[in-house]
Amino acid sequence: MTKKIVLAYSGGLDTSVAIPWLKDKGYDEIIAVCLNVGQPGTDMDFIQKKALEVGASESYAIDAQDEFADKYVAPVIKSNALYEGDYPLVSALSRPLIIDHLVKIAHDHGATAIAHGSTGKGNDQVRFEAAIHALDPDLEIEAPIRDFHWSREEEIDYAKEHNVPVPIGKKSPYSIDCNLWGRANEAGILENPWNQAPDDAWGMSVSPEEAPDEPVFLDLTFEKGLPVAIDGTPMPLATLIKNLNKVAGDNGIGRIDKIENRMVGIKSREVYEAPGAAVIMTAHHELENLTLERDIAHYKPLIEQQITSMIYEAKWITPLFDALMAFVDETQKNVNGVVKMKLYKGNVTAVARKSPNSLYDENLATYTSADSFDQEAAAGFIKLWTLPATVYEQVNHVHSQAKDKVNND
Ligand code: ARG
Repeated sequence: MTKKIVLAYSGGLDTSVAIPWLKDKGYDEIIAVCLNVGQPGTDMDFIQKKALEVGASESYAIDAQDEFADKYVAPVIKSNALYEGDYPLVSALSRPLIIDHLVKIAHDHGATAIAHGSTGKGNDQVRFEAAIHALDPDLEIEAPIRDFHWSREEEIDYAKEHNVPVPIGKKSPYSIDCNLWGRANEAGILENPWNQAPDDAWGMSVSPEEAPDEPVFLDLTFEKGLPVAIDGTPMPLATLIKNLNKVAGDNGIGRIDKIENRMVGIKSREVYEAPGAAVIMTAHHELENLTLERDIAHYKPLIEQQITSMIYEAKWITPLFDALMAFVDETQKNVNGVVKMKLYKGNVTAVARKSPNSLYDENLATYTSADSFDQEAAAGFIKLWTLPATVYEQVNHVHSQAKDKVNND
């Protein structure tokens, strides 16, 4: 029987070298699959052809940008998911999507295995393999890059022997992963956390110092917790994010320089750029402030925290994740409205907001004569509100001077 394997292919040297390597390992047919998830400057035709040139028997290039935005980015927006407070889960999101496609293609072609190009030190291997196990535990897994154990020179020699074109010029010192939700960059000079990230580490944004001296204002319209229009012009989520990446990146917004805790136990230093995400998530959170009832607003972050960890930690395909997302979806029904955003030299702020579902009542909030708030009810409310602590303090005298009096007696 011909042994077939589906390879997550990027077009780069590592996954190209993986093709002859998998053949050496006994696979007869390598089916290369490259997904466009909005990584900029990707020539999908070129990548598709290149896989065939270096020995793949079939090669697919799939435009998955809308699917990525609608099914994978949307939950992150609705749940304000920022890992360890600031990383919008850029790479963590694309892995389950890629595997979803690879497993389908494996089944269509009767392939018995899937190969991915992750190293053995990162989170992505866990995310890829967790998704494969969940979708089809019978599929075998190959991780050529994890298994190579080659120096750069050995890899190049192997590439040359097997007619895999080696990019000329110096290899980028960085390891970059990019999609429409953002860009992750590690390795090289960034490995020393005391080194400031040099200019060439960034790819989606200018530095705040170089950003224009005039602010940019834009109105972001939301429906059920998701952005649907910029300045009143409706557009698909993927397009909207890409437009915001451009304008926010040009204003120096969305840079994150971070030490993070990986699943595999190590701390790593990575620089991220997520300009569009910064604008959307700031706006979304502000619209929630306007439209969520207080108990929901105070409880939801607990759920968000759990969702965020689960996305980072390869638990996308789990019943708990689905159940928590059902909770979040329920909370988003009334998150409709418009938020005016100000973009200025690396900062993004919500400066105005309105909503048909606004719970802000100006007549209740005002200090003018239009006031409809019952101020007289406040005094009784305060008495009852503080009653348990009042009784406790009167019995135990923990804070009051009366305590000393008691002790001195
Ligand atoms: N540390 C991030 C994560 O685990 C990003 C990893 C992306 N990889 C890269 N080569 N920069 O989600």
